[in-house]
Amino acid sequence: INERQWSPRLLAWFAQHRRDLPWRTEPRDPYHVWVAEIMLQQTKVEAVRPYYENWLHVFPTMEALAAAEPDEVLRQWQGLGYYSRARNLHAAVREVMTKYGGTVPQTAKEIRTLKGIGEYTAGAILSIAYGQDETAVDGNVLRIFARVYGIARNILSSRVKKEITQLVAAQLPTGKAGMFNEALMDFGAMVCIPKTPHCEVCPLMTMCRAYCAGREKELPIRVTR
Ligand code: ADE
Repeated sequence: INERQWSPRLLAWFAQHRRDLPWRTEPRDPYHVWVAEIMLQQTKVEAVRPYYENWLHVFPTMEALAAAEPDEVLRQWQGLGYYSRARNLHAAVREVMTKYGGTVPQTAKEIRTLKGIGEYTAGAILSIAYGQDETAVDGNVLRIFARVYGIARNILSSRVKKEITQLVAAQLPTGKAGMFNEALMDFGAMVCIPKTPHCEVCPLMTMCRAYCAGREKELPIRVTR
């Protein structure tokens, strides 16, 4: 029983359950969103939290980060792992200072040219910090949509990722894409979690194909090759 537009239900859930996270302070700053999204790529929220707060203490602005030595930048990242993230962020922030006058680019085309910013990070920054109607599809979003739409195919395949991205785009509430994307992040971390989702408290249970078929634990399917 799939309703066409279910974003209002997710947004209502988000209004009640939204996590209070340090990178969600208003007004949203593109640099802050950027740092958080890069740190969160391979690292859990609770591990990121202290690093994020320290980072903004040491490098409060893009100007400060751009002026820092690479060694100092890596030192502040020490312990988070995947150090190319720090090197790319440093190089990209320097480019924003020299090439874009200190303003994070506001178009998908330009922002995607920056080191370390792929499709997901671009969508997250443009939607959350700039209010643009962009998708931000990560593993959590793939899992949620595979379940809601009962997609029993490999979510790691680029075809399935493209299909899901289109389904996400069709759900994006106009003017609230950033909120919707953050709602999906929290929903994927709190309700539609990997192995054993909390379907009994899910706002989407009545229209979730996986739940209605009793297959929520079987989805998504991930085949690494
Ligand atoms: N995971 C990835 N991005 C996130 C964000 N902005 N908030 C919470 N969890 C996230």
